[in-house]
Amino acid sequence: MGEGMNVRGLFRGFGFALLLTAAGCSVSTADVTSRGADTQTGGGDAAPSPSPAAPGTDGGAGDVAAPAQTLPCDVSQVLETSCQSCHSSPPQYGAPMPLVTYADLMAPSHSNPSLPVYRVVETRIHDDAAPMPQPPNPRLDAADTATLDSWVAANAPPGSGSCGAVDAGAGEDASPAAGLQCTPDTTLAPASAWSMPQTTEDVYVCYGVELGLTSERQVIGMAPHIDNHKIVHHMLLFQADSAVSSTPTACSAGGSLSWRIVYGWAPGGQPFNLPPTVGFGEDGSTHYVVQIHYNNINALAGETDESGFDLCTTSELRPNVADVVAFGSMSFTIPPHDTTDITCASTWTNAPVTMFAAFPHMHELGTIISTSDDGSGGNGPSTPMGSQPTWNFQDQIWFPINATVNTGDVIKTRCAWDNTTDSPVGFGQNTEDEMCYSFTMYYPKITSSLWLWPLPAATSSCAPTQ
Ligand code: HEC
Repeated sequence: MGEGMNVRGLFRGFGFALLLTAAGCSVSTADVTSRGADTQTGGGDAAPSPSPAAPGTDGGAGDVAAPAQTLPCDVSQVLETSCQSCHSSPPQYGAPMPLVTYADLMAPSHSNPSLPVYRVVETRIHDDAAPMPQPPNPRLDAADTATLDSWVAANAPPGSGSCGAVDAGAGEDASPAAGLQCTPDTTLAPASAWSMPQTTEDVYVCYGVELGLTSERQVIGMAPHIDNHKIVHHMLLFQADSAVSSTPTACSAGGSLSWRIVYGWAPGGQPFNLPPTVGFGEDGSTHYVVQIHYNNINALAGETDESGFDLCTTSELRPNVADVVAFGSMSFTIPPHDTTDITCASTWTNAPVTMFAAFPHMHELGTIISTSDDGSGGNGPSTPMGSQPTWNFQDQIWFPINATVNTGDVIKTRCAWDNTTDSPVGFGQNTEDEMCYSFTMYYPKITSSLWLWPLPAATSSCAPTQ
């Protein structure tokens, strides 16, 4: 199964799992904030139980409620540092459950209610295809991995209950805009709020923004502007050839063939600062489209959202105007129930440029995408131009590259897919179609009227990857 399909399969499973989990949660009302006296531990022998009859809660059919069980401090620390930016209480960015209290870890998991959450945690921190923390966040280091591994191996015993100041709290912010080196002056927002249906787990929504500029200016920084952290899963910013309605409307996950990606954000992703001498051009012909993937995994009622992007702009034009080009391919077919792995070559016929950011893009059957400049005539040396060795449709971001592409250089993009469906799949904009685009930001902008941003992808020649 392709990874994207796994994610979608998981989403489908959640609806069913919700009932069970809700039941599980209401039983174990344990609350980490009562972290006073405790511990009936007795070295790791205590088998954890999702039921209120917790280990060590001896008889005393009685009056006094058992003290809430708490997480061991080292485990709690790892979750706080690496997981709670999404798995807070309530969870954010489409994460299905909090990872804050001992009870959270003992609850039945969403994807497989027969397994407690801590068992699924053990699986996902070692799952190279769908790791937690999810990219672009760094994987756990060896020490933190060992902390969770040995706790799970000991059957997840409760801790002693006194860890000092543990912040059990909700809403630790992944503070998406931190790291922007400028002050935003323009917000791309919808004309009206999107109302998230309670019964829809997963939807892509698009809206257009017209700035109505009368003179040229430049964007020098971009950051996500997240209104409702509970339901926003990831966001992409496109430029379109013509205006798109400013009312948020459900749209294809694939966007449109005439849209090119300008910026994207997934939880943990960074704002985008253009290099000091470079600005991304904007004028009266600029049409933006914001695409947001919403995820209402916990079936919350009455959620609305007006997320978009914050831009820093300047009318004091920087010497280098940046633009976006697409490498890859627009012509391929992946046979049903088969994998395809192609490498597509395109010769750079323009004047030399500097490529400084890459945004690989495929749809949900994609498994690998990577691009390199293989030098004059393809004879090397090879310069990396962005690679997602385990492609995940849910985690699309720009990342920095540094390549000087000279006239005559051969740019190669490798794309691989796993077609788990019953039909052949080719290039297209619908969710069930595929893509092989490495959007790349470069300067100086090519000004020829014969130039179009998808030309390198449209004219490349592909062969099976060696
Ligand atoms: C940047 C946000 C983010 C971070 C950080 C993050 N997660 Fe997740 N997690 C998610 C999202 C979104 C999902 C649901 C999609 C999926 O399963 O891939 C998820 C799903 C999971 C699941 C699957 C639950 C199930 O029922 O199948 C587990 C387990 C999990 N995360 C554990 C962790 C652990 C442990 C950490 C920290 C070491 C962590 N996550 C860090 C966003 C995050």
